[in-house]
Amino acid sequence: MYRTQTCGALRLEHAGEEVTLAGWVQTIRKHGSITFVDLRDRYGITQLFFNESLNTRLDETPLGREYVVQVKGTVVERSNKNPKMPTGDIEIEVSDFAIMNVSALPPFTIEEETDGGDELRMKYRYLDLRRPTLKRNMELRYRVNRSVRNYLDTQGFWDIETPFLIRSTPEGARDFIVPSRMNEGEFYALPQSPQTFKQLLMVSGYDRYYQIVKCFRDEDLRADRQPEFTQIDCEMSFVEQEDVLQIFEGLFKHVFREIKSVDITDAFPRMTWEDAMWNYGNDKPDLRFDMPLQNLKVNHRVYCEALQGVDFKVTNEAETLLAIVVPDGAGYTRKQTDELTEWVKRPQIGMTGLLYIKCGTDGSFKSSVDKFFDEQRQSEIAAFCSAKPGDLILILAGKEARTRKAMSELRIEMGERLQLRNPDVYKPLWVIDFPLFEYDEDEDRWVARHHPFTAPKPEHAAWMNNRERFGEIKANAYDIVLNGTEIGGGSIRIYQRDLQEQMFAALGMDREEAKEKFGFLLGAFEYGAPPHGGIAFGFDRLCALLGGQESIRDYIAFPKNNAGRDVMLNAPAAVDEKQLQDLNLRLSV
Ligand code: AMO
Repeated sequence: MYRTQTCGALRLEHAGEEVTLAGWVQTIRKHGSITFVDLRDRYGITQLFFNESLNTRLDETPLGREYVVQVKGTVVERSNKNPKMPTGDIEIEVSDFAIMNVSALPPFTIEEETDGGDELRMKYRYLDLRRPTLKRNMELRYRVNRSVRNYLDTQGFWDIETPFLIRSTPEGARDFIVPSRMNEGEFYALPQSPQTFKQLLMVSGYDRYYQIVKCFRDEDLRADRQPEFTQIDCEMSFVEQEDVLQIFEGLFKHVFREIKSVDITDAFPRMTWEDAMWNYGNDKPDLRFDMPLQNLKVNHRVYCEALQGVDFKVTNEAETLLAIVVPDGAGYTRKQTDELTEWVKRPQIGMTGLLYIKCGTDGSFKSSVDKFFDEQRQSEIAAFCSAKPGDLILILAGKEARTRKAMSELRIEMGERLQLRNPDVYKPLWVIDFPLFEYDEDEDRWVARHHPFTAPKPEHAAWMNNRERFGEIKANAYDIVLNGTEIGGGSIRIYQRDLQEQMFAALGMDREEAKEKFGFLLGAFEYGAPPHGGIAFGFDRLCALLGGQESIRDYIAFPKNNAGRDVMLNAPAAVDEKQLQDLNLRLSV
């Protein structure tokens, strides 16, 4: 028997017992003839106590960090207890031990706090995974997975696998493609999601499907994006939007209760896409703090009268003027407002400057535009923005889309600086009524806002024939947003062949192309497709948020770095000439 207990199991009540433990040596502390060793396994850490008089072999066979050892000994009460450790009341007085494997000196400290940089830790991911932080993340991920499965099981969902070697699905990102050896010159694509398959399963009558499934997207990476990531992918038949929202709000509440012991009893708030854009400048508002955007002027239409009749080029000529109110910010120094100005001028934000008004606690006003706006006008702007004495109003001016985006980012930045984004507070939100289409300026055509299988709202379906009105068509498409992160999105689908054909046509696909790419789906819609809809959640994102983090990387056992590389495997990598020949491929580089 390798062990009688794990390194996380022993407590004071075990004192006096003879035990055998096995694990990794985390630290070794020598005090004269006595040596303390922290022995670690997945379950915890137990302190070992070597007394040279009993363990002479310790000098002959010295231990090193990360050695794998088996120890026999007696559980004894510690004189120097460590209340921070679950096993901190006891230690093992070692009577015998065996080294089961030695270890090279690890490249970084394998403890809660580490000295290893990101790339180094990724290269030695198997060592990094030994650290308690990552271990906790992996455990959380496992528990969330199990909790999701349990809930969906009670709701009658079946887990059905769908293929990874498929044709490309137009989900918006680039595909990863896989050459086929047996079909010369042809390629599979890895699924960006199982979208069409889950719809086909509805046609097959499976009614409720789910899968916790890998998806692949060749897109630029960010903290919350990986080229391969996991979705909780779901689809249901004979449902309307309301049914889908209810079932999956239930899933969230279930997971929160099980994982965080948080009981969310209220219905999740809902916000239309238009309201989200108007009030927060993006479609995934972080509702842990308010600070809504104040629309002083939008697309040349002036809403704040105090702007009228002032001879100031910036406010007169700007397409849009937006403000936010920083509570109690009137005390900001010149240095602080200058620094904020530099912040909005960064290329990522792209604004030319920042205007501000300080609302003095004594009712006075002081601003960067004192020359143009007298105190009366400043007080009117403050009233428009519902600013209170002591607040600071920040104003951005410029083109509508850019200014709205910049202001939404400045809002988040201020929330961060004012520590209003508490990771222990959870603010879920449904964003609904998304537009069906979006105009892609680069490609000069209409594209599907969610994906081409999303149905228009029935009352807007007639406009599918009228390009002029494409911009007005709304969909029963919804996103679930948690603390400013989009963690899921879905829609009610098209299930009629003619409507699906209209959709492809609207996206600029002619009949031939639609048939060639989606003939299988159009065909399936001829054999009794039921009304259906669904949703998919970003499983990695959900886990990261439940763990209080925004970056998903440390919630994935073996993630890619920011350049999409697996630095441990050194992938992607070149392949042998022979492999290329088998695939009938020749590289042009
Ligand atoms: P969508 O494209 O919105 O919908 O994806 C669903 C959710 O998956 C997560 N996600 C990602 N997570 C990590 N890395 C990525 N690169 C990444 N891309 C997306 C997000 C997102 O909300 N087939 C539809 C769903 C449906 O209509 O049912 C789909 O894939 O949290």
